[in-house]
Amino acid sequence: MNDVKYDFGMVGLGVMGSNLLLNMADHGFAVIGYDKNPDKTKLFEASADKDTIVKGVNKLQDMIDQLKMPRKIMMLVPAGIAVDSVISELVPALDKGDIIIDGGNSHYIDTLKRIKILEQQGLHFMGIGISGGEEGARRGPSIMPGGDKEAYKEIEPILKAVAAKADGQPCVGYLGKDAAGHYVKMVHNGIEYAIMELLSESYDLLHNGLGYTNEDLHKLFLEWDNGEMKSFLIEITAAIFNKKDEKVTDKFLVDMILDKAGAKGTGKWTSQEGLDLPMPIPTIDSAVMMRNLSSLIDERIAAQKLYNTKLKTIDTDKNEFEKNLHDALLFATIISYAQGLAMLTTASIELKMDIPLPEVVRVWRGGCIIRSALLDNFTKAYENAELKNLLLDENIAAMLQQKEPGIQKIISSAALNNYPLAGFMASFTYYNAYRRNLLPTNLIQAQRDFFGAHTYERIDGVGIFHTEWETKAETISTKHLD
Ligand code: 6PG
Repeated sequence: MNDVKYDFGMVGLGVMGSNLLLNMADHGFAVIGYDKNPDKTKLFEASADKDTIVKGVNKLQDMIDQLKMPRKIMMLVPAGIAVDSVISELVPALDKGDIIIDGGNSHYIDTLKRIKILEQQGLHFMGIGISGGEEGARRGPSIMPGGDKEAYKEIEPILKAVAAKADGQPCVGYLGKDAAGHYVKMVHNGIEYAIMELLSESYDLLHNGLGYTNEDLHKLFLEWDNGEMKSFLIEITAAIFNKKDEKVTDKFLVDMILDKAGAKGTGKWTSQEGLDLPMPIPTIDSAVMMRNLSSLIDERIAAQKLYNTKLKTIDTDKNEFEKNLHDALLFATIISYAQGLAMLTTASIELKMDIPLPEVVRVWRGGCIIRSALLDNFTKAYENAELKNLLLDENIAAMLQQKEPGIQKIISSAALNNYPLAGFMASFTYYNAYRRNLLPTNLIQAQRDFFGAHTYERIDGVGIFHTEWETKAETISTKHLD
């Protein structure tokens, strides 16, 4: 057996796996990566900086033999069967106490099952969410670990070293028991879907409604990225509007891209989980729905002909519209986070994961796709660790109330001009419903009791009631007389 000398091992030297290992190596850790493909191991070794300790191997056993104990092995492979097949290859070759980490976007239920199975074999299995894409992996991602606390302590120094830093603090922290890491990452992605949807709706209004060119859009998004909603997603959106096509050189690339949004599942899982808890996350749901609707291209084309749909020009003052849209976007973005964070608060209790919400907000401040200046406001709000929903924080309430006229006007002009605005409308509806002490759902209770004897509660006392709704007036009076 070779000398055990490497601090960390990686299965899968794709873009994410190799960049994360190189990041670790930059921070002084000795790292070893396994990939069946010799081209990948060669490229990995060639990409390492001088004076770093980096090795690529093409046999899994070679990696296992050269790791320090307890072994710390991460896999960054596609979610699903690939994860199970790596586990089944690893398990027979490992020793009790070794740590296997799934750093991909696995479904948290799968992670829970894997934790239980591997626990019986004396192995630690951890689900860790990693956000930030290729660049993040290389220069500093946001890392969302959950699971066994002892195992976390073993890997904490490495994760802290490689994570993005926000105000000098590493964007990593223990985020709860069992599959909490993958749960938090799933909700992170749900919020990511919601904000991306809001940005695409903003683009639609500006481009199709007001005739903004890509140059105009680039300029406006850059402006927004220099203000109170500075964020990674706005920054890359500004850059997208500036990118020329390489094939058709007088075009911008964004105009050449088919309007059919893909999805790998994390947004859908967030919606499914929201329904199961249940916790309302309508902005995230609408984002998932719009991606699905976007794929019905043939039907959309047929419907456009049938309805003779024309994109209407929105007749408005541009400066005023820009200001209102800015406020609407900020408003709906806050609502998207509020929904995701409230879902985490409930899931933490219901699924017994003990997710520390202030820590989640802290970890999202840097490195991840949803990093934004707004997280500073949320950090303040979550100084109250018992906060159930961002909307219940006084400062956030004041921000939302201040931006309310903006979203009212944007939604009104979109509706009057037939622009779909699922994300903005869902956010505004959530806001208007959430802050009402009375909703019209008393009528729904009455209807349920009418046709199905589903019973209801009353506002003037405790108890469960049922009424024979169809009893005729004469019968009632007869009964009364009796
Ligand atoms: C991240 C991203 C990353 C991935 C998304 C894409 O945090 O770095 O979320 O995990 O790009 O999962 O998801 P879709 O393909 O579903 O849009």
